[in-house]
Amino acid sequence: MSPPPPATALDRLADAVSRAAREVPLVAEGGVVAAVAPGHYRVGGLSPFLKLGERVAIPGPHGPQIGEVVRIDADGATVKPFEGAIDARLETRAWRMEPVSLQPDPTWKGRVVDALGRPIDGRGDLRHGAGIVHPFREPPPAMRRARVGGHFRTGVRAIDLFTPLCAGQRIGVFAGSGVGKSTLISMLAAAQAVDTVVIALVGERGREVREFLEETLGTHREKAVMVVSTGDESPMMRRLAPNTAMAIAEFFRDRGEHVLLIADSVTRYAHAARDVALAAGEPAVSRGYPPSVFSDLPRLLERAGPGYEGTGGTITGIFSVLVDGDDHNDPVADAIRGTLDGHIVLERWIADRGRYPAMNPLTSISRLSRKVWSRDEQALVRSFCALIARFEETRDLRLMGAYQQGADPDLDRAVAVVPKLYDALRQDPASPKSEDPYRELAALLKG
Ligand SMILES: Nc1ncnc2c1ncn2[C@@H]1O[C@H](COP(=O)(O)OP(=O)(O)O)[C@@H](O)[C@H]1O
Ligand SMILES: [Mg+2]
Repeated sequence: MSPPPPATALDRLADAVSRAAREVPLVAEGGVVAAVAPGHYRVGGLSPFLKLGERVAIPGPHGPQIGEVVRIDADGATVKPFEGAIDARLETRAWRMEPVSLQPDPTWKGRVVDALGRPIDGRGDLRHGAGIVHPFREPPPAMRRARVGGHFRTGVRAIDLFTPLCAGQRIGVFAGSGVGKSTLISMLAAAQAVDTVVIALVGERGREVREFLEETLGTHREKAVMVVSTGDESPMMRRLAPNTAMAIAEFFRDRGEHVLLIADSVTRYAHAARDVALAAGEPAVSRGYPPSVFSDLPRLLERAGPGYEGTGGTITGIFSVLVDGDDHNDPVADAIRGTLDGHIVLERWIADRGRYPAMNPLTSISRLSRKVWSRDEQALVRSFCALIARFEETRDLRLMGAYQQGADPDLDRAVAVVPKLYDALRQDPASPKSEDPYRELAALLKG
């Protein structure tokens, strides 16, 4: 792929003018604030001109305060600002603006932006590309999509062995808090086989974001675009961030690249979508979640995957899911699991034993693993799983001293092999990547 030509001063000027023109409120279509609440306000007089997703601006102390239209009815529209406390009085004037848009450019690699696509890494202005994209897009129609590609090696032994992935697959990492989701995901961000990594960090603490950038991502930062919305930002920003990241990933995909999209965490996105939907007046139906959350989730997740047939680009999606109180059946986790092509389950009891990544190979699945495994590899994985199951179900028995070597050859084998297997699967971000876990581990069964 040839690098884009350098921008001339004239290009930059033209770019700045066209962007500024798009940011100017459409003065002809003004209304007034009719009600103010802590998280949103109502605007009268604009309803016939507005659509959902468009923006409205009111004057604020530091320039216009911009919000998104989340509900429209005959006597007004509900607007939720992206940033800042609402500083409006009744009768404050309000203007309509176009929906949020982005102009991604290949030079965005190595940069960190907020949910609105503004640089936040202190490395100066971003160059804007020629094409305009909107964060909330529809996935490509199923019939025009290419099929998932070949084996995508992540370099994480436990995943490449038990839940091997394909390019264009969507997989979830499910776990309670502190069990190792973010760490595992950052190890995946270092995968060699991708052209670009787009990472959405949603609802993280600010400290974790810096750590992630400076320590975990390290040298891989130059091929990554990060979209960050920390936990203290508004739900509007947290709802927008993964969609912005997805739009950036789509931009690189449409250039024919293999993009790895990582969203940590989708649960925090769902929480933000819930807050917005409740402000829009939707009723809560499922454990406090309004129905639109369950249509927003698949709409986002489905956008990862192969691109249009013939373009060559693809988005492999990795989504972390927080399971509250380690309850793997909460409605959000359920909805996400149903949309994805597999799930990697991390368990606290494994992490408590100091085994990381704390992946449970017996409950984790990749729906595409059959496409990847050879007959021998599949047989190897099956026998490992059988040994692990045997080993774990007899753990109490063995602790009580009821195990005698020689009484049950299968169990003897499990006791001999599984601890070595567990050791071989240990990996942290600093350990070397695995090249061929099957070959590395097949020796265990023979030995
Ligand atoms: N692969 C690993 N190797 C060693 N320690 C790990 C590993 N993964 C997680 N940990 C430990 O678990 C802690 C929590 O991990 P983190 O990824 O932040 O969890 P989560 O994102 O699920 O809340 C880390 O601070 C680290 O001490
Ligand atoms: Mg985390």
